[in-house]
Amino acid sequence: MSVLEIRGLHKAYGGIQALDDADFVIESPGLYGLIGPNGAGKTTLFDVVAGTVQADSGSVRFGGQDITGWPSHRRALGGISRSFQECRVLPEESCLDNVLFAAQPKGLAACMWQAFTRNNAHRRRVTDEAMRLLGLVRLQGHAHTPAAQLSFGQKRLLELVSVFMSSPRLLLLDEPASGVNPALLEVLSDFICTMYAEEARAFLIVEHNMEFIMALASDIIVMHQGKVLERGSPQAVQASPRVLEAYLG
Ligand SMILES: Nc1ncnc2c1ncn2[C@@H]1O[C@H](COP(=O)(O)OP(=O)(O)OP(=O)(O)O)[C@@H](O)[C@H]1O
Ligand SMILES: [Mg+2]
Repeated sequence: MSVLEIRGLHKAYGGIQALDDADFVIESPGLYGLIGPNGAGKTTLFDVVAGTVQADSGSVRFGGQDITGWPSHRRALGGISRSFQECRVLPEESCLDNVLFAAQPKGLAACMWQAFTRNNAHRRRVTDEAMRLLGLVRLQGHAHTPAAQLSFGQKRLLELVSVFMSSPRLLLLDEPASGVNPALLEVLSDFICTMYAEEARAFLIVEHNMEFIMALASDIIVMHQGKVLERGSPQAVQASPRVLEAYLG
C-alpha cells in the first residue's frame, strides 16, 4: 500500500492553472524532494494534500484510503502534518507552548484531548517529548522564551519541531531551509535525519536550496507548470536536459 497517491490533480486560480494533471505516487517512507521553478504548483499541491484547498478534479489517496473529500483536520488526525513556506509560529507564546499547542488535535477531538490531558502522567510525557525535540534543534534553553524573540532560522526550527508533535506519517515541509543561515541549516538537516531514523515516515520537502535538498533526499520530484516534469535520483534529475532547461540551467 502506497503512502501517498496523487492522481490527475487540477487546480485553477482564475486563468492560472496552478495544478495541471499533477500525478505521482510515494510508495514508501523516505526522504523525497519536491522542486521546481517559482509558480510550478508545489505549495498548491501541499494545500490540496493537506486539505486546505480543494482541487477542481483528481484524487488524493493516503495510506490506501481515498481522502479527496476529507477536511483538513481529519487529514491531520490521520497523520498528515505540514510546515508553511512563510513559517508560522505563535509569536506571543513560548517555544514550549508553541510545541505543546501543536500536540493538540484540532477540531472535534480538542475537547476530548483536554479532558484526557488532565491526566498528569500523559501531560508530562508530552512535555518531555516537546523538550527532547527542542533539545535536538538546540532550542531547549529558549523553551520559555516567546517565539517572537527567536531569529528567523530558529523560528523555522521551532515550526519544524511542532510539525512532529502530532505523530505524523506524512510530513509536508514547504521550504524549511529558506532564510536559514548555514550553521542552523546543519541543525535542520540533522534533525530531519534523526527523526527519520527514529521512525520511518514519508517526508515530502519543497526546496529551492539545491545543495540542501540534493544532499538530504534520495528521490526528487520536479514540478513545472502544474505537472511532474521529471523524477529520479538527485544525480539523475540534475543531469536531466528537461530539468536544466526549465529550472536548474
Ligand atoms: N490563492 C491563490 N490565488 C491566486 N493564485 C494563486 C493562489 N495560490 C497560488 N496561485 C498561483 O498558482 C501558481 C502556483 O503557485 P504555487 O504557490 O503553488 O507555486 P510554488 O511552486 O509553490 O512557487 P514558489 O516556489 O514561488 O513557492 C502561481 O502562478 C501562483 O501565483
Ligand atoms: Mg511555494
